[in-house]
Amino acid sequence: MSKIIDGKALAKSLRQDIKSAVNEIKSEYNYTPALAVVLVGENPASKVYVNSKAKQTVECGMESFEFKLPADTSEQDVLAKVEELNNDPKVHGILVQLPLPKHINEEKIINAIAVEKDVDGFQIINSGQLATGTGSPLIACTPYGCLMMLQDKYGKDLSGLNAVVIGRSNIVGKPMAQLLLDANATITIVHSRTKNIEEITKQADIVVAAVGRPEMVKASWIKQGATIIDVGINRIEVDGKGKLVGDVDFADVEPVAGAITPVPGGVGPMTIAVLLHNSIVASCRQNNKPVPKILDRYNRF
Ligand code: GUN
Repeated sequence: MSKIIDGKALAKSLRQDIKSAVNEIKSEYNYTPALAVVLVGENPASKVYVNSKAKQTVECGMESFEFKLPADTSEQDVLAKVEELNNDPKVHGILVQLPLPKHINEEKIINAIAVEKDVDGFQIINSGQLATGTGSPLIACTPYGCLMMLQDKYGKDLSGLNAVVIGRSNIVGKPMAQLLLDANATITIVHSRTKNIEEITKQADIVVAAVGRPEMVKASWIKQGATIIDVGINRIEVDGKGKLVGDVDFADVEPVAGAITPVPGGVGPMTIAVLLHNSIVASCRQNNKPVPKILDRYNRF
């Protein structure tokens, strides 16, 4: 059996199920789930993500609203746009693409998004509910996609497995650890101030790398047969040509790994598919309707 965890294929089947769910919602509930994306400025990577999100939203039968604002837009004007979308009943999910230009306080913008429309799961109530295991939060897309890949392999219950998360960001590291903990794995988070990272990762059955440092994780860090989830998307130059690599040195690690996600084609495609999934869930809650059953298999419990 291949060692490669095919995120692209899993994302495709999730998108197909989302498409069926959207059809059901349109015919039975009489509304069209809609996602609004706000991009401020000209960050090239952000532009690529936003275009890709819009394309996939439409391909799944959902409505996509895009707002591209100039880099010098004031914080007040971004807040006003968020407020307008919060109050628009046709909009079910709101995503403000990060990073924002330096003069805008990201925390302020994120927390201005209505909790029920925060399909990124970054807002304080959603992230707090995930941390405390209360309520039914919307969950950050990248870590949720990683969990789906792990649960696809192991089943829902990760009891008895040691998982090491490399990185402690609010976007990936922290919610990833919380999701793994809720799935009963035993968790360690390592980061830039950790001593002897390699000794710790070498104990892990599951390693999730989310640090943004190209090819940092080497074979010597990994226990034979471990599952490796590589969240990194780093652009490097090889022989004068641009190339995308992960936080894991794939060529070095693949021979010792039991299973591994490639870059590209691993975590990346899952993130957008989960964003669409979250938008469907958000839309059903806002319309007091049950989430179509076809999406039940992606529940984390
Ligand atoms: N920038 C990079 N990843 C993300 C993400 O998942 N959501 C948002 N809003 N911005 C990002």
